[in-house]
Amino acid sequence: MKKWKKWGTTLLAASLTIVMTAACGGGGSTTSSQPAASGTGASGAEESAAGQEKPTYSFKLAHITAPDHMWHKAAEKFKEELDKRSDGRMKLDIYPSSQLGTEADMVQQIGAGSVDFGLITAAYLSSRSPSFAAWLTPYAFKDLHEANEARSAEVSKKILATLEEQGLVGLDYLFAGQRVMLFKDREVLKPEDMAGLKLRVTPSPPLTDFYQSLGASTEGLPLPEVYSAVQTGVIDGMDMDLDAAITNKYDEVVKYGAVTNHMVWPAVVMASKSTFDSMPEEDRQIVRDAIAAAADYSATTRAGQEEEFKKTLSDRGMKIYEIDPALFSAQIKAYDEKYGPTDPLIQEFIDTFRK
Ligand code: BEZ
Repeated sequence: MKKWKKWGTTLLAASLTIVMTAACGGGGSTTSSQPAASGTGASGAEESAAGQEKPTYSFKLAHITAPDHMWHKAAEKFKEELDKRSDGRMKLDIYPSSQLGTEADMVQQIGAGSVDFGLITAAYLSSRSPSFAAWLTPYAFKDLHEANEARSAEVSKKILATLEEQGLVGLDYLFAGQRVMLFKDREVLKPEDMAGLKLRVTPSPPLTDFYQSLGASTEGLPLPEVYSAVQTGVIDGMDMDLDAAITNKYDEVVKYGAVTNHMVWPAVVMASKSTFDSMPEEDRQIVRDAIAAAADYSATTRAGQEEEFKKTLSDRGMKIYEIDPALFSAQIKAYDEKYGPTDPLIQEFIDTFRK
């Protein structure tokens, strides 16, 4: 029998993110950040077939992309799967478009337990936990399907586990499009053409190094700042994915798009350790399975959209073209030689996936 009752305004204001009533524990409710006294009207349990009460949850998830980006669609799929797999016990509110701040802010909130889940770029995480730079290995995968399969490799799991010491739980990876290069005014056909250009990268050492090895200078800018930077000429182009190029309308301010697909771009799905550790294992497994379903949905759907996305940008007036990956062989070698020795997990990643 469902026992959902109305949340009181006080509780809402307190922005509780998870409400659990212990199965047989005498009604003691806990939240990810603070205990909720029993009898507050915030019932957090429903009765199982065996007559035992199971916890109910109201989670928060934050990410930085627009609502029409694949990351958001994957978050919606995660929400749907949670609801279905928990028989309605797990609810999820999604905060897209950096509504809860920058990636640094979100990770801080997840660490503190005031946000339960985040989709965070491996690029950002590489500055907190260097092993995540492994995912920025250039040309490590043939396509998104290969990258999606790499989620279950031992090394990928070990990289997630490096977040534990920061009070975070790395749960999985979720892929949208691979990285491409967008240029405001210059049709770049080979690395030498990048000389003198200032290109935006997501702030992270491996991306900066990759573009500098191509001869460009770099500007580390978070996603929300990119449109105006290119519009006003602060940058001459950017490292991006086709998805965000479309959802953020960069076609209005750049003319050329080189579909290099030079790196994959996982969202690292992370959870608050305090939230996750306080859940029964059965419920943690529901969360893991719901994320896996969302990740498969995201990679499969996105892999089928490549031609459509290129056409969308062409139709909007951009020149879309490809650059032969062989032209980047010196930069690939430079990346492997520089980053492999810095971290055993990066070396293992390169050894595992570099064909
Ligand atoms: C970016 O910083 O370029 C980015 C971040 C998340 C999704 C897509 C792009």
